[in-house]
Amino acid sequence: MNTAKEQYRIHAEPFYQPQADEVELYEAAYAACLPVMIKGPTGCGKSRFVEYMAWKLGKPLISVACNEDMTASDLVGRYLLDANGTRWLDGPLTTAARIGAICYLDEIVEARQDTTVVIHPLTDHRRTLPLDKKGELVEAHPDFQLVISYNPGYQSLMKDLKQSTKQRFAAFEFDYAPADLEVGIIAKETGSDEAIAAKLVKIGEAARNLKGHGLDEGISTRLLVYAAMLIKGGIAPRSACRMALVRPITDDADIRDTLDHAIDSVFE
Ligand SMILES: Nc1ncnc2c1ncn2[C@@H]1O[C@H](COP(=O)(O)OP(=O)(O)O)[C@@H](O)[C@H]1O
Ligand SMILES: [Mg+2]
Repeated sequence: MNTAKEQYRIHAEPFYQPQADEVELYEAAYAACLPVMIKGPTGCGKSRFVEYMAWKLGKPLISVACNEDMTASDLVGRYLLDANGTRWLDGPLTTAARIGAICYLDEIVEARQDTTVVIHPLTDHRRTLPLDKKGELVEAHPDFQLVISYNPGYQSLMKDLKQSTKQRFAAFEFDYAPADLEVGIIAKETGSDEAIAAKLVKIGEAARNLKGHGLDEGISTRLLVYAAMLIKGGIAPRSACRMALVRPITDDADIRDTLDHAIDSVFE
């Protein structure tokens, strides 16, 4: 067994609650060798979905959190100096292309555009990755797939993907799950009872309605899960919600008071 492949394999089934037909659509995209883009707000289940799909398809998953300091070499690889001279070290994208992994570039817009273009030859019919410094052309393994995610909410003109990048992907548009499903996600993820989960979802909805009215982003499913975990750990619901749901997302005193008030009315 290929050890690199084993290293990146997902052994236990991740819990993923589908919202619609995204699982079947993803399988179809994978079967057609199409690269996939997943758009959506933070903490709505994008990464969990990719983990689940990698598990379901039985493929290794290599995830990379992108940032603006990332260079093409961080993805592709570089020569390292060691006692015996120089040694080439594959980057995560190259490793994924060689072993046939799903390569997940999280928050791709954070990367600079000169970094982003290295994925181009992997995302069209060529399915190759030129390692210019090494003078090697890597042919992607048939199982290799590229998946990128980004949060269109944060997007500015400076931070957007070029059309020439966008138009290489089939895309999913994710959002927070509808209330009944989100209650189930929180309950299943934390072992909380549904009554508590339903109250948290109510607070989440109140905050999401403030998006664009003082909040850049509503309360994510991730934060609702945090609150449920704190409550399960014995913290009083009002304190748990203040700490997990409100303080992280706003510095504005008015918004904070509005949300604290919503918490008090839900957890009377
Ligand atoms: N559909 C879902 N199924 C299961 N868990 C979910 C789902 N959506 C959100 N979650 C929960 O929310 C958390 C954040 O989701 P994640 O996938 O990390 O978000 P992001 O969209 O930022 O990648 C997960 O750890 C999980 O607890
Ligand atoms: Mg993520």
